[in-house]
Amino acid sequence: MIDIAWIPTQKPLFAVRVCINKRLNTDRLPSCGGRGSRGLADLLERRVLAEGIPAEIIRGPCMNNCLIGPNLKIQGAEFFNLRDDISDANIEKIMDAIKAEAERRKALAPETP
Ligand code: FES
Repeated sequence: MIDIAWIPTQKPLFAVRVCINKRLNTDRLPSCGGRGSRGLADLLERRVLAEGIPAEIIRGPCMNNCLIGPNLKIQGAEFFNLRDDISDANIEKIMDAIKAEAERRKALAPETP
C-alpha cells in the first residue's frame, strides 16, 4: 500500500454558464464575447477556485439575450444580464449569488458518513 497524503478534489455541485459567443459582424448585434465575457469567465473561475466554492464555470454559446449581455446563468438560480457593465460591483453581486447557491446546495446535500 502506498502511504501518501491524498486530498480528494471537490466535485462541483453546480455550474455557472457564461456566454462567450463573439460575433465578427458587430454592426448587427453585439455579443457577450465582444463585451469582455471571456475575461469575466476567467476571473470568475479564478475566484471560485481561490475561494474553494464547489462550482464549475462553463463557457457556452449564445443565450439569445445579446442586446443586454454579457449574460450568465447560475444553474438553479439567477440569470444575470450585465448590460455592458463588468464592474467590480457586478462581479461582487455575481460572486455573492454563486456563494449563496453553493450554501443552498450544501444544505440540501446528504451528509456523508
Ligand atoms: S452573444 Fe451572449 S447572449 Fe447572444
